[in-house]
Amino acid sequence: MRLLNIRLIVSLILGITLVSLVSSYFEVRAQKRSLRQDLEHRAEVLAESLAQNVEPYFGKGSSRLQGIVGQFGNREHLAGVAIYDRQGAVLAVTPSLARWLTTQPHAAAQSLANNHGTSEFVRTGNDALNIYAVPLHKDGEILGVLVIVHDAAYIDAQKARVWRETFLRVLVQVFLIALITLLIVRWSITGPIARAAQWMKALRTGRASPHLFSDSDLLHPLAKEVASFAQSLTAARCAAEKEAELRDAAESEWTAERLSVHVRSRLKGSRLFVVSNREPYFHIRHGKTVQALVPASGLVTALEPVLCACDGTWIAHGSGDTDREVVDQHDRLRVPPDDHRYTLRRVWLSKEEEEGYYYGFANEGLWPLCHIAHTRPIFRASDWEHYQLANKKFAKAVLEEMEGIERPVLLTQDYHFALLPRLIKKERPDARVAIFWHIPWPNPEVFSICPWQRELLDGLLGADLIGFHIQSHCNNFLQTVDRALESRIEWEHFAVNREEHRTTVMPFPISVEFPQPESGREDKSSYEERATLLRELELEATYLGVGVDRLDYTKGILERFLAVERLLEKHPFYREKFTFVQIGAPSRTHIKRYHDLIAEVEAEVERINWKFAAGKWKAIVFRKAQHSHDEIRRFYRSADLCLVTSLHDGMNLVAKEFVAARDDEQGALILSVFTGAARELRDALLVNPYDIEQTAEAIRVALEMEPEDRKARMLRMRKIVKEQNVYRWAANLISTLCEMRLEKQEAKAAGIAGGSTH
Ligand code: G6P
Repeated sequence: MRLLNIRLIVSLILGITLVSLVSSYFEVRAQKRSLRQDLEHRAEVLAESLAQNVEPYFGKGSSRLQGIVGQFGNREHLAGVAIYDRQGAVLAVTPSLARWLTTQPHAAAQSLANNHGTSEFVRTGNDALNIYAVPLHKDGEILGVLVIVHDAAYIDAQKARVWRETFLRVLVQVFLIALITLLIVRWSITGPIARAAQWMKALRTGRASPHLFSDSDLLHPLAKEVASFAQSLTAARCAAEKEAELRDAAESEWTAERLSVHVRSRLKGSRLFVVSNREPYFHIRHGKTVQALVPASGLVTALEPVLCACDGTWIAHGSGDTDREVVDQHDRLRVPPDDHRYTLRRVWLSKEEEEGYYYGFANEGLWPLCHIAHTRPIFRASDWEHYQLANKKFAKAVLEEMEGIERPVLLTQDYHFALLPRLIKKERPDARVAIFWHIPWPNPEVFSICPWQRELLDGLLGADLIGFHIQSHCNNFLQTVDRALESRIEWEHFAVNREEHRTTVMPFPISVEFPQPESGREDKSSYEERATLLRELELEATYLGVGVDRLDYTKGILERFLAVERLLEKHPFYREKFTFVQIGAPSRTHIKRYHDLIAEVEAEVERINWKFAAGKWKAIVFRKAQHSHDEIRRFYRSADLCLVTSLHDGMNLVAKEFVAARDDEQGALILSVFTGAARELRDALLVNPYDIEQTAEAIRVALEMEPEDRKARMLRMRKIVKEQNVYRWAANLISTLCEMRLEKQEAKAAGIAGGSTH
């Protein structure tokens, strides 16, 4: 640091001195020129007027001339006057000049020759003089010359003064600038570095918060890196402590670290691949920068922590406007954006492919087919074509990623890829393939209306393992296979044998990451959080309810609004006191049913709010926008209750996220019996969302519940979500898949000597 200071100061001194010298040099030159011009002008004026006085006396005796010149001896800077005849003989001279003008000056001779005034500057010994000569005439004839001599020493004195001042100015500037530089270096560099070093030291010894260090603009990029490094360090420390506690308590809670160790041992040097339609991050342009956003998707919420723990490859559709700008030549990038833990491989779809495969077959066909929510599925032959082609395209990308990897493990996600397991297995029999169906599976009668049910089932049965959230979906699936396909079902083992391949069907209830208490993170109490939120929303309310959903007709959003309306009708006490905030992320809006739903939801909010309108209070606040996890968490933590009223849902992770967020052990969950989550969270207030009276009553019960009862329910639900977290889900799914026996024929086809049969 001292070296930096010296370098800075020496450079500043040299720079300032050079600039000052150059500018002073030009200043001195300009001043000298102007002083000389001024002097010459004065000499000319004086010479002209004196010549007129002298000319009449020329030739009338030198005593008259001597008398005239004698009068000019003591004017400002005037050294004297001399008069010469045409031959150069001196006729009269001021006595003080006699020692300098021993001969006729050069300017006088010039003036006589040219017949006009001539000026010159001369130096005699230490003296500097200006000599101005003007010819004298009589009747147009040149008689002689008049010479005016000025002392020009004051011009040199002026030059010297300017140089002296320059020196002093440079001295003061150097001193001040060096001082200011040293202070800035101290405040902006050495100070923050010293504080950062102290903070890092404290962190190393576990005494500092990871969020503290960010007080300087200069160190900001470094601070960001160090902060995330510090967070990882803190997380690692917490994980180590947690592991120690677990060993101590002989508990079996699943953590990211435990999953990562577990999966590595199961993969035996191989790699984990995940394929889903929805990608975990999409990139969009925001002003001049590109931003990474997380989509609203339960699947993404659940899988992201798993991929982070295992560093696999996630293959998904690149759907963001600027997705192509951030990938490498293999369409890959490392994510999460600020903490690279796994690889995302993007697959590109044309507009027509997306329209037919995603909007059409997957979301207008399979989605309403599998959810009993009274929206009729639409099956178009052209959509089916696109669905098959898209499955092939994703399969190709998966196979490319698997190249050179022995016995890869693939987790296929959801109803977008029913055909993909068979496509992969055909090319890579050594791969272990599972598909997890995140949505419900209906009964055989309902499924049979799909014109391509056999092809879908055949594609799915290419997998070694098929997972659903709950047992009844597994039962429905096996019954569907039994009705639709030629196969041998082992009911006692929940397995299907078809064409020498065995597929096991099992329930794996998915979950969320249960947040570990972060050291250094100071959450506000739910009361403080609520007060801040209400202020931000410009609302007045005593009780707060919250709902968080993708805007989807399966979520029962209109039904829950009707329940809020019923509560306010039946119990006027809650008017101007209870507000329900609905967070709704727009979804699949190109589909008419989804587009119409938004309009219906907005109209219903309008109608109910108008009905009960009073001052600043509102019955329902509808926030139609995608919200980040952190924003949603604030609503979860502020609410008295969370309403999950899906008409049909595979699992519903909002219910589990709400429970996981309530580390204050407060808040009540109202949960539809038609969700997978209702099987696990028995302490929620379970409702049939079609029964408006029952849901309204559940809201009242939640608001009036004894605090001890509410706390006891929340504690029990938290215990379940904590134990049955997403790491356990992934561990169960992956270890079941890795421990399965692959058929001998497949191992042979793979040409891997006995490697994959065990
Ligand atoms: C459900 C599906 C997911 C899907 C999510 C969001 O949770 O099971 O596969 O990603 O909805 O829907 P979107 O169509 O936006 O991906």
